[in-house]
Amino acid sequence: MKRVLSGIKPSGELNIGGYGGALSQFVRMQEEYECFLFIPDLHAVTVPQDPKELLRRSMDIAAYYIAAGVDPDKAVIFFQSHVPAHAELGWMMETQSHFGELGRMTQFKEKSEGRDSVSAALFTYPSLMAADILLYQATHVPVGDDQKQHLELTRDLAVRFNSRFGETFTVPEPIIQGIGSRIMGLDDPSKKMSKSNPNRNSYILLQDSPDDIRKKLARAVTDSEMTVRYDWDRKPEVSNLIEIYAVFSGESIEAIERRYERQGYGVFKKELAEAVVGKLVPIQERYKEIVDSEELVRILKNGARKAAEAAEQTLVRAKRAMGFVTF
Ligand code: TYM
Repeated sequence: MKRVLSGIKPSGELNIGGYGGALSQFVRMQEEYECFLFIPDLHAVTVPQDPKELLRRSMDIAAYYIAAGVDPDKAVIFFQSHVPAHAELGWMMETQSHFGELGRMTQFKEKSEGRDSVSAALFTYPSLMAADILLYQATHVPVGDDQKQHLELTRDLAVRFNSRFGETFTVPEPIIQGIGSRIMGLDDPSKKMSKSNPNRNSYILLQDSPDDIRKKLARAVTDSEMTVRYDWDRKPEVSNLIEIYAVFSGESIEAIERRYERQGYGVFKKELAEAVVGKLVPIQERYKEIVDSEELVRILKNGARKAAEAAEQTLVRAKRAMGFVTF
């Protein structure tokens, strides 16, 4: 049985990076895999969050999953905080994680840099992420490129636990899709597209209006060559835009290069904007219909119940393996 577990944190508005690296993959994979798609809200609070904003964004992400095409009849959709087994197994995974390996995580280094105080939970974040995945015996984890190191640690922890306490967890494979797994900032292709960038022209949010999307893409940095060619070493700005085009149009890189070979950047950027707008507008419309609905609440309650059932089986196995008394 092939099983997927993945999620998007409600720590910022969803941008097209999360769509390219994760959400578009969820939609594709639900046809073939048994999918557990969650909203890792416990992970969001490893850095300070305004409670009202967290509440709103959490429901937003859930609504965007469905609006983008995740089908609640095919995938189990739920909040991490609704399934207590995550926190329980998270603690158990912390006991198996080494201080040194957690300290080497680049995401921890990036997120703690320049902060006066850093929560202990930010440090142990990857242990909880391992628990998220291992609880469901996930075989595959679709993520963007920035989660690679966390997935490697998850695999190490699974192997370590299994060899210490006996076969308990499936060792998961990351699925990092070539195209769309690293969508970079529109102002600087050396930095990942992220809502935490103070320059709001550097990212496109799923909720941006068509006009904003057009403006942001018109302003996106390019180079002085005027040839639409995919070459990350020499033309990172243009390569990033070609990737965004490929994610939103479903076309191959080669087809896009061929079409715009002699067109210059103006036409390319305009048509790129229309490809993004064309995909996002229907998602935004569905999002509006669903975000405040009873239907969404019902889906999430149902999802939490199904997820808890699956998680409980692994939790009990892991507890027995470690020597906890279970009746
Ligand atoms: P998060 O919430 O930062 O991002 C969600 C997913 O989107 C991908 N992503 C990107 N992909 C391409 N280009 C970008 N610019 C971009 N920005 C984000 C991320 O790689 C990720 O796949 N730790 C995770 C959340 C998490 C999780 C899990 C994921 C917690 N437990 C278990 C999978 C399985 C995170 O912070 O993702």
